[in-house]
Amino acid sequence: MKLSARLKTIADMIPNDSSIIDVGCDHGLLAIYLSLVKNCRSLATDINAKALEGANKNIIRYKAKNVETKLTDGLDDIVIKPDDYIIIAGMGTKTIIHILKNKKLSDNLIIASQNHLSELRKFMFDLGYRIDNELFIEDRAKKYIVIHFKKGKQKYTKYDILFGPIVFHNREYLQFELSKLEKIKENLPGHHLISHLKLNRYINYLKRELKRTNYDN
Ligand SMILES: C[S@@+](CC[C@H](N)C(=O)[O-])C[C@H]1O[C@@H](n2cnc3c(N)ncnc32)[C@H](O)[C@@H]1O
Repeated sequence: MKLSARLKTIADMIPNDSSIIDVGCDHGLLAIYLSLVKNCRSLATDINAKALEGANKNIIRYKAKNVETKLTDGLDDIVIKPDDYIIIAGMGTKTIIHILKNKKLSDNLIIASQNHLSELRKFMFDLGYRIDNELFIEDRAKKYIVIHFKKGKQKYTKYDILFGPIVFHNREYLQFELSKLEKIKENLPGHHLISHLKLNRYINYLKRELKRTNYDN
């Protein structure tokens, strides 16, 4: 079976023989792939009964072993073990925080949020996680960042939270982020002075890094 580039990136971050919880599994294809290709044990959950119905059909279709499904909101009523890999992809940061708040989580989480990544990083750092890996990928002309959070403390700067401590070293990501901020600035009315100053600071920060990595290459 073939996964999308985004889901394949997530699958590649999971070690063979892991136990995974895929929250918001929808079609269930990621959990099925991990079971078939990486010999993982999976719990695929969704809040939507119709989605789980589709996942259950796919489990039968692909003859996947060791994939269970559960209808629930986020991680409610799920026993989480420290060595489980929790995967949350294709949701916004607000929903992700709702799912993770007040839960005793495992040591590894793979998260691909659709928005507000700085808010997500800050939330996870405050919970006592650090970033182990952060990948910038393109899938059907859309850009995504997939983050592997691992239990552990690390000191991070304001810019690490904003732009990502690892993905920041990816030139393609820097270019993407820079053009995004330049577009926001272009469309911002002139009287928003503070926002202009802030944006200028961030834009210059990204430009400096791009220039520096240009010298390194
Ligand atoms: C856009 S799909 C993403 C599916 C898959 N994870 C992916 O990345 O391709 C979002 C899925 O999350 C589910 N979802 C949304 N909120 C949820 C919650 N609080 N708990 C569990 N599942 C949720 C939706 O029902 C939907 O199936």
